[in-house]
Amino acid sequence: MNQVDWGALGFDYYKTDWNVRFYYKDGKWSEMEVTEDEYIRMHMSASCLHYGLELFEGLKAFRGVDGKVRLFRVGDNARRLRASAERLCLPVPTMEMIVEGCKEVVRRNERHVPPYGTGASLYLRPVMFGTKVGLGVKPSDEAMLIIYCSPVGAYFKEGIKPIKVALDREQDRAAPRGTGDVKVGGNYAASIYSGHHAHELGYSNVLYLDAKEHKYIEECGAANFFGIKNNTYVTPKSPSILPSITNMSLRQLAADFGMKVEEREVPVEELTTFEECGACGTAAVISPIGTIFDMQTGVRYDYGQEVGAQSMRLYAGLQDIQYGRAEDTHGWTTVVL
Ligand SMILES: Cc1ncc(COP(=O)(O)O)c(C=O)c1O
Repeated sequence: MNQVDWGALGFDYYKTDWNVRFYYKDGKWSEMEVTEDEYIRMHMSASCLHYGLELFEGLKAFRGVDGKVRLFRVGDNARRLRASAERLCLPVPTMEMIVEGCKEVVRRNERHVPPYGTGASLYLRPVMFGTKVGLGVKPSDEAMLIIYCSPVGAYFKEGIKPIKVALDREQDRAAPRGTGDVKVGGNYAASIYSGHHAHELGYSNVLYLDAKEHKYIEECGAANFFGIKNNTYVTPKSPSILPSITNMSLRQLAADFGMKVEEREVPVEELTTFEECGACGTAAVISPIGTIFDMQTGVRYDYGQEVGAQSMRLYAGLQDIQYGRAEDTHGWTTVVL
């Protein structure tokens, strides 16, 4: 591990030393177990394998300019994990279990936290699933929560570059009263087909519309969407998109920078009016969108081949807090080491 080329790391599973686990059985959670085992032993009739009773989270720890290691908004990820568990009628872990579990994973894997200046970070993946043995479709009163980590590389290796996305009206990601607003595996299973198709056609991502009317913008692959015009940060409000913690942070930073912030329905036609567009999420912070191609109508929206000034300012503002270069005035980071 000492010879790791941090700059060459992508976004993939990379074996680290320790993971932590909690088990729910007989009406209570176990104490935290710390293990080196990468595998789990599970009954073939466990509910997660048949009925998708599975959810997960994704968050990062950063080694800062001062050498300290900070988790970014771990409490918000813990809250979202709890909301996902509730939606699937799975046992709901406590805030303390999730937050302490994440801290323990960072502490135990300190040697895998990439050095400052490499653009790399430590990605944490909490994953939870129902383990109750049965055949019927019903809630699982047995579950397992695992938190593990992998170092991941800088998303943009040669500077932040705009992406090309495909607007697809033939595939929906999530229904209005479905599970789009929680982070459950089923949503990703539903989107894999359209994502794969878009990749084959040379697009980085799919821009989904609302599943009811196909009039309003929803999300961009596994990231929220935003547009900027007239010093205003505009982002879709919908019951079927995931409340992105990056988007929450960008809305706050935009307001701090004196921009107007609007969270509302965004009709497709409004795409012609934006000066800058982007996708935001933990993986990339911001992926500026250079082109949106409407696959059914053939209409193309272009935003230029360089990242826009306002997107860049938001991107840098967030990374400055994550890497400890700017004061964390909103209390988003937790120093772990
Ligand atoms: C569907 C979806 N939307 C948005 C996001 C961005 O959310 P966050 O900023 O919390 O990573 C993610 C990634 O977690 C996602 O999977």
